[in-house]
Amino acid sequence: METDLVVGDQALTAEHIRSKKGHQRITFVTAYDFPTAKLADEAGFDMILIGDTLAEVVLGHETTLPVSFETMLHHTAAARRAIKRALLVADLPYGTYHASPEDAVRYAVRFVKEGGARAVKLEGGRKRVRLIRRLLNAEIPIMGHIGLTPQSVNRTGGYRIQGRLEADIEALLRDALALDEAGVFAMVLEGVPREVAKAISAEVSAPTIGIGAGPDCDGQVLVLNDILGLSFKRPAKFVRQYSNGAADVGSALSHFKADIESGSYPTDAESYHLTGELRLKLPDILTHIRSSESN
Ligand code: KIV
Repeated sequence: METDLVVGDQALTAEHIRSKKGHQRITFVTAYDFPTAKLADEAGFDMILIGDTLAEVVLGHETTLPVSFETMLHHTAAARRAIKRALLVADLPYGTYHASPEDAVRYAVRFVKEGGARAVKLEGGRKRVRLIRRLLNAEIPIMGHIGLTPQSVNRTGGYRIQGRLEADIEALLRDALALDEAGVFAMVLEGVPREVAKAISAEVSAPTIGIGAGPDCDGQVLVLNDILGLSFKRPAKFVRQYSNGAADVGSALSHFKADIESGSYPTDAESYHLTGELRLKLPDILTHIRSSESN
């Protein structure tokens, strides 16, 4: 899996991502604002997702359900200003594609026009096929998302690994084949046994991107705050933490606070200064102000 299909700094498209299947593993990570998107882009990720996990890891909600479209758009536009090469994918939040296909097309178009997204992701399998066709007709590359779909939490009653029973495996395979047939350029497989993810990856022409789905997918994605250690909850089994963000940021803040309290911040070198002439005139300026105030 090492052929260099995309050369240098060329901005990546959904077609580039598709063409990586079978040649190069696809790298994907979430980001939520200018600095995190800039760092992910400069690290060379193929795709950056403005995920609706924003609701949890940035806004502090219990689930992804409360985040509004306007909030997602705001963060997508911030990430757009940072990204030069990666494909920017925006996640349609809960409620934006459940009422009518017309709404869904309008929201997805706004992600592209106002947010600068180059592709849009939505959750669900066979039941989304007609909608996906409508979105593709609006010239928007679509990424699917099946398996554990967090927007279904109120129906499923929790976040459970999917595809453990025979009937569920069959349903997942049918969902994957339906998304593939509908024309998604990639699909996320979340919380699926390795063997099932491997079978799906072999059956579909679109690249599969795993999260808690084992190493046989065509690419992998994780939530940024999980890999940075900034999620403030027990990580799932599949999360690999690459940095101790909470401890590092916490320690930086404690040091800053202590430096303010001790007077060691700021130093003279961290201050701006008057030129020599004005420095000499400053006492006269003060005397003038005091005398005019007392009259
Ligand atoms: O919203 C999100 O962060 C996601 C990823 C977990 C794939 O959908």
